[in-house]
Amino acid sequence: MDKVVLTEDRLSQDGEIALATSRGSSPPVVEILSARKTFADGTIALSPVDLTIRQGEFLTLIGPSGCGKSTLLKLIANLIEPSDGRLVLWRGGFDQVGQEGRRMAFVFQDPTLMPWARVGTNVRLPLDLVGMPKSMSEPKVSESLKLVGLENFAQHYPRQLSGGMRMRASIARALVTEPDLLLMDEPFGALDEFTRNKLDTDLLDLWYQRKLTTVFVTHSIYEAVYLSTRVVVMAARPGRVYKIMEIDEPMPRGESFRASTRFADLCRQLSTWLADASLPGRMEEGTP
Ligand SMILES: Nc1ncnc2c1ncn2[C@@H]1O[C@H](COP(=O)(O)OP(=O)(O)OP(=O)(O)O)[C@@H](O)[C@H]1O
Ligand SMILES: [Mg+2]
Repeated sequence: MDKVVLTEDRLSQDGEIALATSRGSSPPVVEILSARKTFADGTIALSPVDLTIRQGEFLTLIGPSGCGKSTLLKLIANLIEPSDGRLVLWRGGFDQVGQEGRRMAFVFQDPTLMPWARVGTNVRLPLDLVGMPKSMSEPKVSESLKLVGLENFAQHYPRQLSGGMRMRASIARALVTEPDLLLMDEPFGALDEFTRNKLDTDLLDLWYQRKLTTVFVTHSIYEAVYLSTRVVVMAARPGRVYKIMEIDEPMPRGESFRASTRFADLCRQLSTWLADASLPGRMEEGTP
């Protein structure tokens, strides 16, 4: 598989991309080692996937429907087990996950808030579940709500919030545990483009401030290019890694990046790869 680094000077006039070796020497957070997933009904969701996610990366999975993006995320979260191969988290196995410095949080597409509970109570849930006293958890809830711009909405019910605000509350609930690894499965897929862009900008600020290792799933090429330090393009039937694009645009990124020709070039390249990955029977180069 090609590892491609795109920088302005490496993009020729016609958008052709030169190959370069991957950077990235931060410690691995997730090592996916020849992981396969076959479901009980025989569906091969993932053929062997090998991928290392390093500390501080913003890694995005993109690919046609059914290519195994959610399955891969669930494997990382240990919500399901691989049929073959293995995953190593923080080089320590799952028994150590959840300890200080090894926490992970999952944000789903649906905000999944408890409708009968106020926003503050919803956000406090993960801390209540581990029995943290309110005197300790309340300041964390306040801080988390502040991070997502909902500091004045702790007493509201989810139904009183817009779709974007509900998603923010869901992110606050994920952040309240101070995760080191944030897994997000199409979190903004149901939102309008304006709200999505705003949340993308805020998420990127958060990632930057917190140095949060993030694995993000989206169907949006624009979102993938805007947010990511690395984009993994997956192909379907069976699900596998097709191409990887590294995006070394400096952080923090703003509107000027979205409006740049470089952004357009990267989106065009990703779109071509995605179209290739969606062709039936298309295999990654070098794959038997
Ligand atoms: N529990 C399950 N049992 C059987 N097959 C499953 C199960 N979960 C997922 N699959 C199948 O595994 C494949 C990968 O599914 P997955 O949900 O990971 O795809 P995805 O890339 O997230 O798709 P989408 O973009 O539509 O969310 C699909 O063919 C799907 O039908
Ligand atoms: Mg999915």
